[in-house]
Amino acid sequence: MAQHNADRAAGWNDQSGERWVAHQARLDAIAAVFGQAAIEAAAPATGERVLDVGCGAGASSLALTDRVGAGGQVLGVDISEPLIARARALAPQDAPTLFRVADASSAELPEGAFDILFSRFGVMFFDDPTGAFAHMRCALKPGGRVAFVCWRGAAENDWMRLPMGAIKGIVPATAPPDPETPGPFSFGDRGRVARILTGAGFNDIAIAPFDASVPFGEGATRDAAIDDAVKMTFEVGPLSRALVDQPDDIRARASAAVRAAFADCPGERSVMIDGATWIVTARNPAQADSD
Ligand SMILES: C[S@@+](CC[C@H](N)C(=O)[O-])C[C@H]1O[C@@H](n2cnc3c(N)ncnc32)[C@H](O)[C@@H]1O
Repeated sequence: MAQHNADRAAGWNDQSGERWVAHQARLDAIAAVFGQAAIEAAAPATGERVLDVGCGAGASSLALTDRVGAGGQVLGVDISEPLIARARALAPQDAPTLFRVADASSAELPEGAFDILFSRFGVMFFDDPTGAFAHMRCALKPGGRVAFVCWRGAAENDWMRLPMGAIKGIVPATAPPDPETPGPFSFGDRGRVARILTGAGFNDIAIAPFDASVPFGEGATRDAAIDDAVKMTFEVGPLSRALVDQPDDIRARASAAVRAAFADCPGERSVMIDGATWIVTARNPAQADSD
């Protein structure tokens, strides 16, 4: 277990983190609408303190900072040094937002300090999600709230379903991953998410679908937008990992097939693709409830 955590941390500090930094603007454009929906669900008020888990390059931490104002505080925590470095570089100089490199599942966090535990796609990577949420719950005030957005299953997310379908028969098939293996789709099963949060000691759990069409590729022309979408698919996320060790001829055939799949998506100077998420909210029991 510890080795798995270490492997994943190494990934986010190595190729994954660096590629994420390279594509940060595009990834932020894709995630923005979902993050905004999670922020509305969190309903941060002026003066509140927020812990942003797996904050990446910090876009959601800065949006939360705008909501809580100068009297509040946002701490963005991420296991990836390159992403935290990018978050610090992108934050306006006078932003009060704090960023810290740490594994949120085990880091020492101030006890009972935060009003809100928030995340935009940053909580699906824990080896022991129930243990991680129980640990992070200790950083919440009694009665404090949780709000996060996570992907539903891969089959419901066209940004994954389309390219993965396109490379079938070109790239040798591998066994489908266990849906509970840490990764972008590991919170796809709503019942599992509810079990994790209940097991971690939360109550008032609500899990609602939120879907949106997002610009997966953009460019000066439609062709450039499709190239942009293909490039990102080959460099970030599960498909990039499926292709990483493939010879050039297979990669070229896969690229043509993915390109054809994206060409069917709507958009003028973009490739618009459907994303399917859960917006999850929960509450840390108030002192009296937990006694
Ligand atoms: C899909 S990215 C989302 C990043 C960011 N929230 C966004 O929306 O752009 C997942 C993030 O979770 C971080 N992460 C993964 N495991 C973590 C852990 N155990 N503790 C803290 N951050 C973690 C990764 O480094 C990565 O930045």
